[in-house]
Amino acid sequence: MMTWGVFGILLGLLLWPEPGRASLPLNMESVIQALTELEQEAPATEARHTAPAWLLSVQDAGHRNPLRGFLLEAPEFKAAAREPRPLSPELLSFVEEVTRHDVRDGQEYGVVLAPDGSTVAVEPLLVGLEAGLRGRRAVNLTLDSYAAASWGAGASFPADQAESPNTMDSLLVATLAGDLGLTFLQDPQIPSQPGLGTEGCWDELSFPRNFTLLDPKPSALTMAFLNGALDGILLGDYLSRNPEPRLPLSDLLGQYYGAGVAGDPGLRSNFRRQNGATLALAPTLARQVLGALVLLQALEPAHPQLQNMSQEQLAQVATHATEEFTEAFLGCPAIHPRCRWGAAPYRGHPKPLQLPLGFLYVHHTYVPAPACTDFAHCAADMRSMQRFHQDTRGWDDIGYSFVVGSDGYVYEGRGWHWVGAHTLGHNSRGFGVAFVGNYTAALPTEAALRALRDQLPACALRAGLLRADYELLGHRQLVSTDCPGDALFGLLRTWPRFAATVRRRTARRSSRRRNRAHPSRSIPPTADLQ
Ligand SMILES: *[C@@H]1O[C@H](CO)[C@@H](O)[C@H](O)[C@H]1NC(C)=O
Ligand SMILES: *[C@@H]1O[C@H](CO)[C@@H](O)[C@H](O)[C@H]1NC(C)=O
Ligand SMILES: *[C@@H]1O[C@H](CO)[C@@H](O)[C@H](O)[C@H]1NC(C)=O
Ligand SMILES: *[C@@H]1O[C@H](CO)[C@@H](O)[C@H](O)[C@H]1NC(C)=O
Repeated sequence: MMTWGVFGILLGLLLWPEPGRASLPLNMESVIQALTELEQEAPATEARHTAPAWLLSVQDAGHRNPLRGFLLEAPEFKAAAREPRPLSPELLSFVEEVTRHDVRDGQEYGVVLAPDGSTVAVEPLLVGLEAGLRGRRAVNLTLDSYAAASWGAGASFPADQAESPNTMDSLLVATLAGDLGLTFLQDPQIPSQPGLGTEGCWDELSFPRNFTLLDPKPSALTMAFLNGALDGILLGDYLSRNPEPRLPLSDLLGQYYGAGVAGDPGLRSNFRRQNGATLALAPTLARQVLGALVLLQALEPAHPQLQNMSQEQLAQVATHATEEFTEAFLGCPAIHPRCRWGAAPYRGHPKPLQLPLGFLYVHHTYVPAPACTDFAHCAADMRSMQRFHQDTRGWDDIGYSFVVGSDGYVYEGRGWHWVGAHTLGHNSRGFGVAFVGNYTAALPTEAALRALRDQLPACALRAGLLRADYELLGHRQLVSTDCPGDALFGLLRTWPRFAATVRRRTARRSSRRRNRAHPSRSIPPTADLQ
C-alpha cells in the first residue's frame, strides 16, 4: 500500500504539467483573468496605455491591420509593447494565443468560449474596448480625394447626430466595417445558410483548447468573429458614453458575459444581436463600410483587391455586405449547434427533408417545466430530452427541429435538413420548434418569443428553407394534445402567420403518398410528448 502510495505521488508529479507552462483554457474567464492581472499592475486611471492596447500589442495587431493601426494610432501600440508589464508566463502565453484571430485549415484561432455558450473572437472585442476607451471618434474623410493628407481625427462622435457621408465612426470601422467590406470585396458570394457566420465545435467544453469549424471552407466572417466584433461595438459604445471613473474592464466583461452590465440584464452577450441592431443601423453601417474601404485604399495603394476600384464599385460592395450582415446575421436567431450542447450522435440514418417546407409547428416541452435561463441549464435540458427521446421513446434523436431557450438562444435539434419526430403525421411537412417550459398558464420570455416570431421564420424564408406562404400552427391543431399550452396557444393565435384552419385533407393525402413512396421509414411514428 505504502509503495503504491509513493509511486502514485511520483507518477502524479511526473504527469503534472510543468509549473508556469500549463495552457489555460480558451475561455472568457481566462481573458478576464489577464485583464485583472494587468489592472492590478497598472493603475486603472492610466489613460495612455490601456489594457486592451497592451494586450493587442503582444501580437502587434495595429501593425498587422492598417485600418486599426490608423484609427487606434499604431505608434501607441508599439509604445505599449515596449513597456514591460508583468503578466505571469501562463497568462502571457494565453494572450499570445488569443489576441490574433485567424482561420486556417478548418481551425479557428484567437477565439474563446463565453459563459453564454457562444464563441467569441478576442481581437475585435479588444479593438472595440480600446476604441471605446479612447472615446468613440468621428474621423473626417473626404471621399472625393484619396490623399491620406485629407484625413483628420479628433472630434468626439456625435452619438445621435446624423453624420455627413465624409465622417467615419472609429469604433464601427475598427471592429466590424473594415473586415465586413474586405471579406465581401474578396468574395461577394459568401454562402449564408441560413445565417451569416460559420459555427464550430470545441474539443471540450469544460476545458476548451481547440476549435474546429463546421464548414471546411469558411469565410473570415465566422460566427466567433461576428460575435466578437458586435461585443466590441456594444462595450466600446458603453465605455465611450460612460466616462471616468469607469468600471475596471475585468468587471465590465464579467458583467457583460454574466448577469448584465451595471445590473441591466438586457445588456449582456446573450442579446448581442438585438442590441447590435439598434447600434449598427443599416444606412449608417453601409456608410462606415464604404468609408473603411476608401480609407484602406488610401492607406494601402497596392492592395490587390482595392486597386483601381471606383467609389461606385466600392459603394456596391458596402451595400451588399451591410445587407447580408443585417439580414443574415442580425436578423437570424443565434443558434447553438448540436456539439455545443453535447448532443449524442443520431441513431440510424437521418431522412432528408424536401425543402422548402410550408409549416412551422409550435410546441412547448412541458417537461422540463421550468424555463431555462442560462446556457448550462438549457444545454442540460437538451441532453435530457435527447436521452428521453432516444432511450425511452426509441427515436433516432431528439424529436424537435429546434428548441428555444429563455437565455436568448435557439438550440439545434434535428436542424434544417432532417425529418424530425415532433408532430405525428406531419413531420416531413414542417419544422417542429419547442419552447423549453410549461406554457399552460404563463408565457415564454419576450426574447424567446422574438426568436420564433420574428427571427427564425424570416431567416429560413430568406435562405429558401421555408416557403413564402408558410403557416404557423400549434401542435394541438394536428394532434390530440394540449401542447403548446393554453397561454402560448392563445398568443400564437394573434401572430400574423397563424393559420386558424388546418389544411387537413391536403395534409393527409400528401403524407399518405409520401409514406407509400418510403415504406421503410427510418423514424418510428411519434407520439405526443405529453
Ligand atoms: C471634421 O469635420 C468637422 C465638420 O466638417 C469639423 O468641425 C472638424 O473640425 C473636423 N475635424 C478634424 C480633426 O479635421
Ligand atoms: C484540433 O481538433 C481537430 C479535429 O478534432 C484535429 O484535427 C486537430 O489536430 C486538433 N488540433 C490541435 C492543435 O489539437
Ligand atoms: C490598376 O491600374 C494601373 C494603371 O492604370 C495598372 O498598371 C494596374 O495593373 C491596375 N491594377 C489592377 C489590379 O488591375
Ligand atoms: C404546467 O402548468 C400548469 C398550470 O400552471 C400546472 O397545472 C401543471 O401542473 C404544470 N405541469 C408541469 C409538468 O409542471
